[in-house]
Parts: sequence; C-alpha cells; structure tokens
Amino acid sequence: MASLKGKNLIVPGDKSITHRAYFFGAFSQGKSRIINPSTALDCQSTIECLSKLGLGFEFSEGKVFLTCDGINSLVTPDSTLFAGNSGTTLRLMMGLLAGRPFSATIDGDESLRRRPLKRISDPLRQMGADFDLSNEHTAPVTVHGNSLEGQFFELEHASAQVQTAIILAGLQAEGETSCVVPNKVRNHTLNMLKHLDIPARSSSPLQLGVFGLKSPIAPFEIVVPGDISSAAYFLVAAALLAGSQVSIDNLGIDTGRVLVLDVLARMGANIEITNKRLASQEPVATVSLTHQNRLDGITINARDLASGIDELPILALAGALCKGKFEVRGASELRHKESDRLSLLVENLKNAGVKIESHGDNFEIDGADSVPGGTLWKTAGDHRIAMTGMIANLLFERPVEIDDTDCIAISYPDFSADLAAMFI
Ligand code: S3P
Repeated sequence: MASLKGKNLIVPGDKSITHRAYFFGAFSQGKSRIINPSTALDCQSTIECLSKLGLGFEFSEGKVFLTCDGINSLVTPDSTLFAGNSGTTLRLMMGLLAGRPFSATIDGDESLRRRPLKRISDPLRQMGADFDLSNEHTAPVTVHGNSLEGQFFELEHASAQVQTAIILAGLQAEGETSCVVPNKVRNHTLNMLKHLDIPARSSSPLQLGVFGLKSPIAPFEIVVPGDISSAAYFLVAAALLAGSQVSIDNLGIDTGRVLVLDVLARMGANIEITNKRLASQEPVATVSLTHQNRLDGITINARDLASGIDELPILALAGALCKGKFEVRGASELRHKESDRLSLLVENLKNAGVKIESHGDNFEIDGADSVPGGTLWKTAGDHRIAMTGMIANLLFERPVEIDDTDCIAISYPDFSADLAAMFI
C-alpha cells in the first residue's frame, strides 16, 4: 500500500469562517478585505446572494474585497436568491433578511430543499419576522423582514447555523438577543464578533448574545485559516496508511471544530500541534500526523458530535479499519446534512464489506484489518460522502465506484489534485 507524504501542506480557507466574513460584511460601511477565503462553491453561493442584495465583490489572487454601505443600503433583490447546495447560505440569509424592511425569496437545489428550516424560522418569528415555507418547513422560503425585538433563546439543536442566524438578526434588533445551545458548537461567530469589535456577551461556552447595532461597523481585514474539515481527509488517511507523514500549516483549530483531532488522538494516532497562534481571533496551528500503529476503537458520544459532525463520514473509515469497536451515539443531526449521511454511510460501508450496524441514530462498527471494497459508493451528490469514497479507495482492497465526484467542488474544488500530489 502507498502512503501519504506532505510537509507544510496548505488546505483551502475555512468555509464556515468565509461565509461569516461575507455576512458580517453586510453590516460594514466601506471596503473590507478577506484574505485566503474558501474557494468552495458554497461560498460562491453566498457571494451571489449578497451581490443581489447590493454588496460589491472584487476578486484577486487569494483575496476578496467586499464593499457595502451599511446594512440599510441592502436592496430588495430583483429575483430569487439561489443558495445552491449551501445550508449555511440559506440559514444565515434567513437571519440577515429577518430584519430588513422588505421581502425576499431564497431557494436552493434539490438537496437544500430537503433541509429543515423550522429551527430557524421559529426563533426569528418570535423576534418579529415572518416566513412562507413549504408544508414540510423547507425551502423555497420567503422572508418577510420586519423590525425585530431582542429575545433570549434556549435552542433545541446544537447548531452553529441556527445560533448565527439569530445573532445576525439580533444585530438588527431592539435590545439584547441571546441564545444558549445544548452542546458546544463552533466558535467562529463569537471570534468574528471579537475581531470586528462588535460587543458580544458569552457568559459560558454555550451562550452567545449581542445588542442591536446603532451604526455600521468599520471596514475590516480577516485572514481565514485553513479548513479543518478539508484537512480531515488527509489526516485520517495518514493515520491509516503505514509510512505516512503529513503536516498542515495555518490550520484552524477552534475548540468547536477539533473532534477529528480528539478522536484520532484517542484512537492512538500520533498527532503533534505546534506553532499555535491567533489569526483574526481564530486559533490556528501546524498540525502534524505521523502514522504509528493500527488505531484503537472508541465511542463518540452525542454531546461531542457538533464539534465534528461534518467529519463523521471520514472518521467512520478510521472505525472500519480499527482494532476493536468504533461506536457513534446520538447522530440524528447526520440525517439532516447535504444527504442523510447516517443511512448512506451505513449502506456504502456495509456494501463494501464493513461490519457496521445502526440502531436508531447510533452506529457501531466492528473494525477489521482490511475491507474488500469493489462496490458502488452512493453519494446522493454529497461532497463529504464523495471525498470519503476517494479516501476509501486508498484503503480498501479494491476501489469503490463513486457515483459522483463533481459534487466535491461544493467544499473543496482542488481536492483530487491535492490528494494526488501527496499520495506516493
Ligand atoms: C456550519 C455548521 C454546521 C455544519 C455546516 C457548517 C456553520 O451545521 O454542519 O457544514 O458554518 O455554522 P449545523 O450548525 O446546522 O450543525
């Protein structure tokens, strides 16, 4: 078997942080600079939607310049805002538009039209906005913006998207808006509020609150760190392929995103984190992984899932090849991503010869020292399932046939080329 080698690797800018930089740009007056933005199609969807609302975007190598004249300069779009495949674009847009004095419709592709929106529309309705949704509470959604009143929310779901939509509405509301999530989520919204000098209250890691802004924020510069969700594919592959050694520079290691590192370390992987620092209030570091022994089985509990929900598909491959049992408990949110990732994972891995069983929202893998493969790998157009299939092809005895790899551009357009460059 070949191995993965790469020193000083760089993965694309973080998708979550890039979306937030563009959305917060809607509150600014002047020209801001976003350095190392994500190249993902999802972030392109955010740019297209914000452009229709009147924001200006200019592009140069590794940078995006964003121009806005304050939140009150946003205009009624002349057509439907199309969020493509991007749940973050759709949900954050609902929060942004909730406080605007006009109505606008947001739609997306077939997958986006299946994603639950009641978790967003319910709190935003309580603040004063209104929404027309399908009978299943999905897109297309028409947002009827209104003047908003600050509210306190205790959220049912540990969702950074819901939290951020509420914060974007809260910045336009009268008084204070605050929400508490049931488990830890990514901290990018809090980090960005700090970086932009917007007063925010976070009395515990689960709570975040803001006050309505009285004036536009100053133009800003944000340096986006590498996306740990993209790096996860290389880290897991290196942990499983003998002789591998990778080091990834400038990688975002927010505590709400590091499940993949924690899980690999608990499984016995040799991970080193050096050169820790803050970039635009985001913790970044060089993360190195040197292949050591076969990984051990572990259990991942529900309360930890939000800090790596997008990495569970690739982590399941580590489970398939571990020594012992790999269990994931309470992964109901996996069913509501770009696809029902829980069902697809179980189906694909079972077909490939992995001993995997699911009971409700839990799954359990009996690790083996090899996986036969040679089967069909269904993606349902889900980029993370497709990239997991590509890594499976380095690990299984026979390659799987991935039914769609074009969807990978949704988060990581250069994934195949970057992977090929380090596979020797
Ligand atoms: C994201 C939050 C997560 C994640 C998504 C990006 C974000 O979704 O799965 O890919 O940028 O806030 P939820 O917050 O709905 O869990």
